[in-house]
Amino acid sequence: MKIAIVGAGYVGLVTGVCLADFGHEVTCIDTDQRKIDALEKGVIPIYEPGLSELVKANVSGGRLSFSTDLKAVVPGSEVVFIAVGTPSRRGDGHADLSYVHAVAREVAAAVDGFTVVVTKSTVPVGTGDEVARIIAATNPAADVAVVSNPEFLREGAAIDDFKRPDRIVLGIEDERARSVMTEVYRPLYLNQAPLMFTGRRTAELIKYAANAFLAMKITFINEIADLCEATGADVQQVARGIGLDNRIGAKFLHAGPGYGGSCFPKDTLALVKIGQDYDSPMRLVETTVAINDQRKRAMSRKVIAACGGDVRGKTIGVLGLTFKPNTDDMREAPSIDIIQGLIDRGAHVVAYDPQGMVPARELIDKKVDFADSAYEVAVDADALVLVTEWNEFRSLDLDRLKRSMKTAVLVDLRNVYRHDEVAKHGFEYSSVGRPDGGIAESVANAAE
Ligand code: UGA
Repeated sequence: MKIAIVGAGYVGLVTGVCLADFGHEVTCIDTDQRKIDALEKGVIPIYEPGLSELVKANVSGGRLSFSTDLKAVVPGSEVVFIAVGTPSRRGDGHADLSYVHAVAREVAAAVDGFTVVVTKSTVPVGTGDEVARIIAATNPAADVAVVSNPEFLREGAAIDDFKRPDRIVLGIEDERARSVMTEVYRPLYLNQAPLMFTGRRTAELIKYAANAFLAMKITFINEIADLCEATGADVQQVARGIGLDNRIGAKFLHAGPGYGGSCFPKDTLALVKIGQDYDSPMRLVETTVAINDQRKRAMSRKVIAACGGDVRGKTIGVLGLTFKPNTDDMREAPSIDIIQGLIDRGAHVVAYDPQGMVPARELIDKKVDFADSAYEVAVDADALVLVTEWNEFRSLDLDRLKRSMKTAVLVDLRNVYRHDEVAKHGFEYSSVGRPDGGIAESVANAAE
């Protein structure tokens, strides 16, 4: 099949390269000439494991190409995916659909013969209807079926998520689109991935409901972690204890510094706005958003407490800046708020991240110094804070760290280490929602 993908960002690129890998003939279109030139030379604008190799293989296999010329590519394409950004609109949190609408107009003017136009971007309920209306108004002769096909890709695991999905959601209003989309996803269908056909509005809502539910699940376990700290219980065991119940499920129950990234913060906010627009308030999601916002900053107070209540003039080393490992994405990363909280209280911050330091320089306080490794961060530090659980932070040489630090304090916001092993190396250790050292005993005593 000939497929055009409009928007060579994260979602567009992963979708395009994976569909090319299935054997389709794919062209990724973007207005950014420099990005297209770079992609043609094999330079990938984002860090995503496996992406660069897969792009190269499919370009040299002749199945994947890049272009800035939508008018030339769309006429020969049976399917056109819209994968442009839907950022939070400045001021009101609604998803900004101006890029999606602009692409709909351009595609409408260029289509030739029956074409399926698929929204892959995360868009509010009713956007598919609006895209269909824009296409009909721009080109009344266009023979187009508009489909909603939300993505469920996690950064850092996007290719695997695309090739081994739990489900593929396809919101259609025109029966002709069913066979076309079945053909697009044929290799996955043969692998038994369920194709779920729904109405278009339902598909659009499934995407927001999925992300909001996961954000809520994380926020729930984060609040349970706080309660564990107050009562002397262990959040990892609570998570395991509830996660073994199939109705709850074990995933997304890792307590931490709060969720970040380009999706959960934006999509939860957009769902709240959709609820308000339809006079159907999303109270649980509203509360989730508020709790998560406060939590990121609260983590800096946790660090300050671990440093004896005062960080003025102290050097705090931060390990990990990106919102999660295996990405260079800094958007809404908890590290931003944590670092700001520490600097506002007079700390000097030194940070290291395996992939995120270039984007971090744009987003975090200019007073932060950067180091080239975890061990360099530790030099003369009064405390280390593990913010993002990159693999290279999972088995650090604790003796080596301790030797170069001023005081051996480790605040582990991802529960990577165990208290007993860190204490053995002479560290004062605190983590999230787990009894750290004497805390459990003292609370147990207080309760008696
Ligand atoms: C998320 C969803 O997981 C994808 O299904 C979805 O397609 C994507 O958003 C999107 O809408 O495009 P992503 O933001 O890449 O993917 O990353 P996640 O792995 O979901 O992590 C999000 C945040 O939650 C991170 O800050 C992570 O550290 C945090 N998290 C995750 C926890 O704190 N605890 C957990 O148990 C899981």
